[in-house]
Amino acid sequence: MTAVCFARKGHTVIGIDPHVRRLEQIRNAQLPFFEPGLGDYLQEAATKGTLSTTEDTSENARADLAFISVGTPSKRDGRIDLRYVKEAASAIGRSLIRSDRHQLVIIRSTVTPDTARRVVIPAIERELGKEQGVSFDVCSNPEFLREGSAIHDTEFPDRIVIGSERQLSAKKLEEFYHEFHAPNLPPVLLTTHENAALIKYASNAFLATKISFINCMGNIAERIPTGDVSIIAKGVGLDRRIGPDFLRAGLGWGGSCFPKDVDALLELGRRLGYRAEMLEATANTNRKQWRKAVKFAKRALGSLHRKRIAVLGLAFKPETDDMRAAVSIPVIEALLAEGAIVTVYDPAAMKNARAIFRNRIQYATDPMECVASADCCIVTTDWEDFKNIRPGTFIEKMRRPIVIDGRRIYDATEFLRSGVMFLAIGLAS
Ligand code: UGA
Repeated sequence: MTAVCFARKGHTVIGIDPHVRRLEQIRNAQLPFFEPGLGDYLQEAATKGTLSTTEDTSENARADLAFISVGTPSKRDGRIDLRYVKEAASAIGRSLIRSDRHQLVIIRSTVTPDTARRVVIPAIERELGKEQGVSFDVCSNPEFLREGSAIHDTEFPDRIVIGSERQLSAKKLEEFYHEFHAPNLPPVLLTTHENAALIKYASNAFLATKISFINCMGNIAERIPTGDVSIIAKGVGLDRRIGPDFLRAGLGWGGSCFPKDVDALLELGRRLGYRAEMLEATANTNRKQWRKAVKFAKRALGSLHRKRIAVLGLAFKPETDDMRAAVSIPVIEALLAEGAIVTVYDPAAMKNARAIFRNRIQYATDPMECVASADCCIVTTDWEDFKNIRPGTFIEKMRRPIVIDGRRIYDATEFLRSGVMFLAIGLAS
């Protein structure tokens, strides 16, 4: 993402990665994953000839700036695995041995606060045999882009955070972004490595907490006559101190970031002798939230054995094919455990779903085929494609028109009046 956006702007970018197949795909201007608009950007970079790829880490020596954007997956206990960060830092150190250039190394990956000082700087110094400041400096520069709107978020970030103990290098990176974002430079915050890394975790944990909070409000609203969390979110969000974003109640948050980052922050707290009870509540609320889909289905149908359930949406959010920690997975597993016959549809994630569920479920080619003859339909992802389906269509296509709106995409008044049996997150039934 970062590489393609920089290359499209005219910077000469070398993408270094050990996955030969991935490199091959990028070389052929093919995207290894689904991200709106990125294919065109990759094509533009290919036409300009500004993006090259290689698995040869020694090529790093040719760069003025080296961005570490590797994965930091979770370990079982919630800690993040810094293996790839360490490998990248060591490779950078080795590549610079015969170079007379001063390189700025930038940590883009989401890492714990001690990573720059404890892992990255020592790994480069060890391989290179020189201290920071002589031929390299390290900056922490977390990214805040969302899947599905990654290009927009890269080009128009709310802020840029740079952590470093080397003031001149932090300024150099600020100038780079100045040029990249001109004429709209977002606010830049210069701070330490530790604060920069923690800002990233705190941002994700706060957003996840905002969602768990509104889901908690929804669970209360459901039990009150006329209660409706979408109206409550609107009223709450109009308070400028709170804001309307990330207040969409639903079956919970998933993806490759929030679950991993909340766990990592909890683990960091534990390691530091602090129990972050608020984040425990954020995580626990989310862990239970997806179960509501199955509870609603049972409320409507009684036993789910041999019932045909349509699941609309598999990706963890719209505009992506990513199913990592998607709520659709536990929902489908629970439906299968109850003996239901499950048919699924997603505009982008069908391939990933097949790899997970194989022949245990049925795959539809569009939303209509998915809901056809179903006893119940559960909306698990808020794709635009699903928002246009009117109550009449559910009534016409389904065996029993029972709709569970797990993402609050439908107008409750319209659906409740229509003859559809409508159950929705945070809505009094
Ligand atoms: C998140 C952050 O939003 C980014 O700022 C951050 O850079 C990124 O993680 C990261 O750490 O790399 P992402 O996980 O791609 O981005 O997607 P989000 O749009 O944040 O959605 C996360 C989950 O929250 C999804 O499952 C979504 O359905 C859910 N969500 C989001 C809600 O349930 N309600 C909302 O109001 C918003």
